[in-house]
Amino acid sequence: MIRVKKIAHATYEVPDIDQQTEYYTNILGMTLAARDQDATYLANTVDHHSVVLRRGNSAQCARVGFQVGEGDDIDAFEKQVQSHGIQTQRQRDPGPSIADLVSFQDPKGTVMEVFKRADYSHQKFQAKGIVPHKLGHVAFHVTDVKHVTKFYADVLGFRESDWMADFFSFLRCGPDHHTINLMETGSNRHFHTAFELRDWGHMQTACDFLSTNGYKLIWGPGRHGIGHNLFAYHRSPAGLITELFAELDRMNDELGYFEPRPWHRDNPQRPKVWAKDPSASNLWGIMPTDEMHH
Ligand SMILES: [Fe+2]
Repeated sequence: MIRVKKIAHATYEVPDIDQQTEYYTNILGMTLAARDQDATYLANTVDHHSVVLRRGNSAQCARVGFQVGEGDDIDAFEKQVQSHGIQTQRQRDPGPSIADLVSFQDPKGTVMEVFKRADYSHQKFQAKGIVPHKLGHVAFHVTDVKHVTKFYADVLGFRESDWMADFFSFLRCGPDHHTINLMETGSNRHFHTAFELRDWGHMQTACDFLSTNGYKLIWGPGRHGIGHNLFAYHRSPAGLITELFAELDRMNDELGYFEPRPWHRDNPQRPKVWAKDPSASNLWGIMPTDEMHH
């Protein structure tokens, strides 16, 4: 099967596009790569955009973009999607740096945009703000985690990295432990969007920068059990939760285990079902605030 190779961008609808754009440029430290009547495009480096902001009545993640490899046949990928009885749409040159795009909905109504990158951008990392390496993952609340997880595996080629009991799946489309995670809670909506930082030092700088700009953490810093990443969560002006993380587990798919790290309890650390235990959420022990759940 043809698998998507990485998460490339996420598109959000927000009531106040200027305010959310200001947050992404001045606080997160991303480049405003383009702006048109309907949208702003925020970038890190080689990808033309990692975040797209569009006007909408309520804050939500409407679309997620995934890149396939240069050698992958996008016609064959579209047939693969259709073979599951899913309707697709095809667009040539639908936007900056995207040559050929197949789009379709996942079971919870989020639009998947699968494409080949036509060319790479050459903007540099910013020198102000937090400046993450990249968009890392998008997490969603879902009403039927088994059904949506199966969709990501069967249609897009994701692999299961870990589960928390039977209600929270962590899925990868490359070496990173998860690029999509799905938590069954009784509604279909955005949970959080995560950006990768360099290391613990970068996390400290970021948390201080957030606090001097009036952003309070709603959970963390801590170290997740599942994925073993350092984490700190805050809320963006539109109300959507942002996670900053570092040291996420990286899978060696040839060997079937995550690159060994001193904070692992299993040696080697392989994909598994974790018990619903506080250490699966935070190895350092502090549980999420209520703010994390709404
Ligand atoms: Fe996360």
